[in-house]
Amino acid sequence: MTTDAVNTTVLVTGATGRVGRRVVESAEAAGLTVRAASRSGAVRFDWGDRSTWEGALRGADAAHLAYLPDVGAPGAAEAVGAFARQAVDLGVRRLTLLSARGEPQAHATERAVRESGARWTVVRASWFAQNLSEGPFLDGMRGGELVFPGGEVLEPFIDTRDIADVVVAALTGGDRFAGRTLDLTGPRLLSFRQAVAEVAAAAEREIAYVPVSARDYGAALSEFGLPAAEVEFLTDLFETNLDGRNAKLSEGVREVLGREPRDFADFVREQAAAGTWKS
Ligand SMILES: NC(=O)c1ccc[n+]([C@@H]2O[C@H](COP(=O)([O-])OP(=O)(O)OC[C@H]3O[C@@H](n4cnc5c(N)ncnc54)[C@H](OP(=O)(O)O)[C@@H]3O)[C@@H](O)[C@H]2O)c1
Repeated sequence: MTTDAVNTTVLVTGATGRVGRRVVESAEAAGLTVRAASRSGAVRFDWGDRSTWEGALRGADAAHLAYLPDVGAPGAAEAVGAFARQAVDLGVRRLTLLSARGEPQAHATERAVRESGARWTVVRASWFAQNLSEGPFLDGMRGGELVFPGGEVLEPFIDTRDIADVVVAALTGGDRFAGRTLDLTGPRLLSFRQAVAEVAAAAEREIAYVPVSARDYGAALSEFGLPAAEVEFLTDLFETNLDGRNAKLSEGVREVLGREPRDFADFVREQAAAGTWKS
């Protein structure tokens, strides 16, 4: 570690989310002073309300950015760019951006951070293992069925704890990872069918994987009341991001952390033991 962690205050956005929560834990374990920010977090922060930005940033030395609803969503590049420039103006020296692997829609957001004047690191992550244990897919998993437009494509599921550890290593690693775009995956390629089967076996129950087309998935989201623009973005995202382009492993976790990424099987064992997928 080359940065004086004890004297570093880091703002973590999305701090109650699947990644942000672990960034908070990992940063605290590394001795950083953490500001956990979100709309309902200890530090109030809303991407859609610029009046909350300055209070969150003032006095911080570093910031981890996670844009919601998605790093490639319409308006993400403008908001993240404006936030990153404000961060630099307020003396925040170091930024990390959580981005997505194989998502061309996210490139403008990444560029906005690169051009902000900060020392930046972009962390491009593959599909999270924790998508199956937290968030919108959990109800389906508990109900015995994951309906998803993932076909039979192979995806290198990553444990969000590894993303968090990489983010903190970048923030505390001095210049080592500054100006770098890090490609992060888990250690093993799995189809969504195989992933759900591993969960079902560990949870000792039946859970079906039901592949659908991105268009049909979008139509179902519309029926649930999602706004048309969001449905259009998500349909386009699933059509590009789940076409097999991510079906390869990367060295990112190993390079930054000097160890193997956590395996999906470990995640599944821990969550099954905790009763996550009980119906
Ligand atoms: N899911 C994947 O497989 C994957 C893969 C690669 C990259 N990504 C990227 O990861 C990011 C999502 O991270 P995650 O999965 O950890 O998040 P998450 O679990 O969906 O949680 C969302 C977090 O953001 C906060 N939030 C929601 N709306 C907000 C707003 N308008 N302003 C400020 N904070 C807001 C939430 O807290 P409050 O409700 O309290 O505000 C919460 O802390 C996205 O940028 C996505 O593109 C996802």
